[in-house]
Amino acid sequence: MARITASVYTSHVPAIGAAMDLGKTQEPYWQPLFAGYEYSRQWLRDNMPDVVFLVYNDHANAFSLDFIPTFALGTTSHYPVADEGWGPRPVPDAEGHAELAAHIAQSVIQEDFDLTLVNRMPIDHGFTVPLSLMCGQPPADDFRWPFKVIPFAVNVVQYPVPSGRRCFQIGQAIRRAIESYDEDINVHIWGTGGMTHQLQGPRAGLINREWDKRFMDRLIADPSDLAQMPHIEYVREAGSEGIEMVMWLIARGAMADVAGGPAPVVKHRFYHVPASNTAVGHLILEEAK
Ligand code: DHB
Ligand code: FE
Repeated sequence: MARITASVYTSHVPAIGAAMDLGKTQEPYWQPLFAGYEYSRQWLRDNMPDVVFLVYNDHANAFSLDFIPTFALGTTSHYPVADEGWGPRPVPDAEGHAELAAHIAQSVIQEDFDLTLVNRMPIDHGFTVPLSLMCGQPPADDFRWPFKVIPFAVNVVQYPVPSGRRCFQIGQAIRRAIESYDEDINVHIWGTGGMTHQLQGPRAGLINREWDKRFMDRLIADPSDLAQMPHIEYVREAGSEGIEMVMWLIARGAMADVAGGPAPVVKHRFYHVPASNTAVGHLILEEAK
């Protein structure tokens, strides 16, 4: 059967992708940020999954005000890199796992979570920046990401957005779906976005270090309690775009301890302020072996 062996959490600030694409990672502003991902890249090489179930949000690139799916599951086998206005990033398109995605759709929808299924979905910085941070830039002579992906796009852009509680529940359903897939493959689940940031209005530039630290503490130790946090607290304490943090609860909900198993092992924890307007947070939780 398929197994979830780890969850990874990371911010997706677009300027991080630009820093990589423009060769600026060793500049003084960026060097401390990328240093925080050196461990992660080695860890990923040592624990390479077959598939990453990647929870992220689209920023009006694949979707628009025409269609606003709350939870959109990518069920196709190819995801092109989006053009966000400066041409697509020079990174590989992503290869999907359509069969596992179809199984997850069947399982999760039959558990009464109403997903939108998407067979054409360009992936924006919400998706490609976490891949770049964790994998680095793939070599020109083997220009592809080292695993297949299943994109899971959550609407955290246009109100109303889903609650942390709903996200945590859906993570648990995704775990049951993956673990009932009849093929012996290794799956990671990534929760991306955040941490505190606000890009607009009088509070633009808001960072709340205390809140971020406590969010990571609670995500690790007591996610079911954290999942009860009301939407208004995200916006008040973490900024209008801090609501992206609910996506971390999907990945956390898919870990074994939430289903009565052993607690995961914290392999890596990193926090850095600022990257552009945002506090960057990063965690790797591995299932107990
Ligand atoms: C920034 C952060 C985001 O999450 C995003 O989607 C766009 C911009 C920023 O800090 O600049
Ligand atoms: Fe964002």
